[in-house]
Parts: sequence; C-alpha cells; structure tokens
Amino acid sequence: MKREYMAEPYKIKMVEPIKMTTREQREQALKKAGYNTFLLDSEDVYIDLLTDSGTNAMSDNQWSGLMLGDEAYAGSKNFKHLERAVRELYGFKYVVPTHQGRGAENILSQIMIKPGDYVPGNMYFTTTRAHQELNGGIFVDVIIDEAHDPSNEHPFKGNIDLNKLQALIDEVGPEKIPYICLAVTVNLAGGQPVALENMRAVYELAQKYGIKVMMDATRCVENACFIKHREPGYADKSIHEIVLEMFSYADGATMSGKKDGLVNIGGFLALNDEELYQKATSLVVVYEGMPSYGGMAGRDMEALARGMYESMDYYFIAHRLAQVQYLGDRLMEAGIPIVRPVGGHAVFLDARAIYPHIPQDEFPAQMLAAQLYLESGVRSMERGIVSAGRDKDGNHHYPKLELVRLTIPRRVYTYAHLDVVADSVIAVYKNRDNVRGLRFVYEPPVLRFFTARFEPL
Ligand code: F0G
Repeated sequence: MKREYMAEPYKIKMVEPIKMTTREQREQALKKAGYNTFLLDSEDVYIDLLTDSGTNAMSDNQWSGLMLGDEAYAGSKNFKHLERAVRELYGFKYVVPTHQGRGAENILSQIMIKPGDYVPGNMYFTTTRAHQELNGGIFVDVIIDEAHDPSNEHPFKGNIDLNKLQALIDEVGPEKIPYICLAVTVNLAGGQPVALENMRAVYELAQKYGIKVMMDATRCVENACFIKHREPGYADKSIHEIVLEMFSYADGATMSGKKDGLVNIGGFLALNDEELYQKATSLVVVYEGMPSYGGMAGRDMEALARGMYESMDYYFIAHRLAQVQYLGDRLMEAGIPIVRPVGGHAVFLDARAIYPHIPQDEFPAQMLAAQLYLESGVRSMERGIVSAGRDKDGNHHYPKLELVRLTIPRRVYTYAHLDVVADSVIAVYKNRDNVRGLRFVYEPPVLRFFTARFEPL
C-alpha cells in the first residue's frame, strides 16, 4: 500500500546503535524486571517508547550551546537567555529554574496549597497530584466526560467542564481553591489538547472568583499545533502566537523542559505575580539551588532556551504530530482498539478492550506492556490502575482508562521504527486470548508504578 507521510524536517548527524535481542533474552530480562517495563535495562530495549520525557534528540545548535555554559554560582548569562525565552515565547514575567517539572510542581504546591484546599484539574498527572496531596490538597477531576471514553472523537478532549468547575466552587467556596491546574495537553487522557476557547472561559470564571489558573505547560507546543489544525480562526496563526494567547489565560505555569523544551533534563516554574515569585525563590534555594540556576547547570539552561525557540517551528511540531498519527493510523487500520483521536505525544492502547477477560485488579495494561516487550523488545508504559495508585484508605483508584502508552521521543525514531512497533502490537493482539493477568510481588507506597514488581497469575 502506498503511504503518504510528512518527511523529517531534519537530517541525521550522529547515530546511536541499538542492541538486537532474542526472545529468550527478553524473557529473562522481563523476569528480572518483575514484569515492570520501568525496571528493564535500557540496553535490553530495541525501540524505547517508555516516554517522550528527556529522550529528545537535541539539535546541533543546542549541542553547541552546551559549550557556552556559564557555570557561575550566581547570575549566569544562560539564565538570562532562559528568562528571555520564557518571556518572549510564553509571555510570563518571572522564571524559577528547577531540575525538572516535578521540582516546579513541588514549589508551586508548597507556596499555594493549604491543608484541606481543593485543586481542580483536567485529569490528574501522577507527580502533579502527588505534590498537591503531599501538601494537604484534594485533587478534583473537572475534565469533560468525553475524556474518559477512549472511543469518543471530541477534538479537544482535554477541555475543562465548566459546569463541574462551577459546581466545585459552589460546593467548597472559592477561598478553598488556591488555583486551577490546567494541563496542555492532557497526558493521561491520551495526549489530548485543550481549546483556546475553553482556556479563555476557564480563566474568566476563575477571575470572577479570584482563583488563579496555573497551567502545566509541559506539552504546550503540541497543544498549540492542535489548535492551529482544529480550532476555527487559528489556521493562519503561528505556533508562537497561539502559545502566547494560551498563556495569556494563566497566572503561571510549571514546565518539564524534558518534553517540548527539547532537552534531556530541566524545567521551570513561571509566574506573573511578584509576591508569589518571592515565595518561590525562598523555596528554590532549599530544594533546588540559587534562583539563577535552580536545578540546572548553565549549559543545560542554554540548551533549554535554544530548544524552546526551536519548538516554535511549525515544521518541527507538525512532523511530530504526523509521526504519532501515522502509528495510530496503522493500528486503527488493523482494528486495534486505541484512544481516539490520536494525541500529541503517544498512541494509547486500550488494554481493557484488548484483554476484556483480565479484571482491572489483575493489571491488564501492565501485562500488555510486558507482552509487547517480549514480542519485539519495544518498551511501552502502563497508564492504568498501577499508575493510579491507592486512595488514603488504601484501596486501588480504579481509573476508567486502562491504557498502555507508546510514547514517541522527539526527532529520534523513523517511520520504519514505527512500522516495527505497529507490527509487534498487531502480533500481540492476535495472541490476546492466551494471556492472563499479574499479581504484585512488591508494591511501594507512593508512585508505585516506577518500582513495583509483579509475577504472572
Ligand atoms: N506534567 C506532565 C503532564 C507530565 O507528563 C510530566 C512528566 C510532568 C508534569 C513531570 O515532569 O518528569 O520533568 O518531573 N511526564 C513524564 C512522562 C514522566 O513519561 O509522561 P518531570
């Protein structure tokens, strides 16, 4: 069949060989890893779709920026470059650099949340919710219902349901809501975007009650590209213009530079309010480092600043979305149930639909990820009940979505790699009736998915 796809808007200057493994080797590796793909050695992985976080390929321009690191303890010029990038590209006034996104989440949660506060958000993200809860906050999911339905084709499945938000404000009172946490895009919903119209409406409602809006900017460029492609009136706007409008509806943002910042490590907290910025700087020195480097070396701030400018290039981001869509299209053609529409950073397999005979507390998505690794050495990630963890009474959270994420690193793999992935998923799907679930051998108390161990039932 003739396929049409958008070719790479870059050429390859350096390569990293990858190891090929046999099925026997993979069987051993999987056992050693306790059926948890997080615990596999990277060396034993052929195509690594565990995450798009910190797995980006940097450009020659970014690598050359690394040589210009000003590693002064205070006042590094690379910090000025990062600050300029955040101001020019995102439109926020103040920048607190952190070692990665969760460093910013830690500081934001500490300066804003009091015990007993409510934090509404468009679906949870693991580390974001963990920091909110560690500070005594109660996370409330106010995403639209469509987001919980893997087959619903809503173009902006990340949107906040304004009625749910209003109902929470009426119920607990605005003084109990320090901020609304608005993620662009929504990772666990399948990389689904939020419409500008929705951001505007959320911000207006929040302002009416004196509630702040804090965005999770981690994949903001992907979100902007979806807006350009899907939202009426934005087709002729640049990615930069759209990103600026998005953040004009926020009081601040946490950013994991490891995604749309096109680097391997780094992040920041961005704010407009001077008083909040002062509070954040007094914490960053405790947890990260001086306010002018936080958790990053000067060279890393330089690479991030340069990556942020590169991420505004339409061809870069359109190609990224096209690659993810290509994988999704191949799987849909083969009848594999995936989350639709295909999101920005990953294709999500619907493990519940693939293994309907495995009950959720026997971890169907965890097992699906294990089977895919066994088949071909493709590493993916569980995003279901294991990731959702337990509530304060010790019961499993039972998320509606029980998914396996095939996450595409930026500028790393080719369409041929994606064909290997698609063929492997199809092979695993064909064998679906012969597979049973898993049980815990070891379960850590927080963020259990990272280090839990399992054995087959
Ligand atoms: N917010 C979102 C939406 C994320 O996806 C992540 C990380 C973070 C915050 C935290 O950032 O890792 O730099 O501390 N997501 C990674 C992933 C881990 O694989 O989806 P971090």
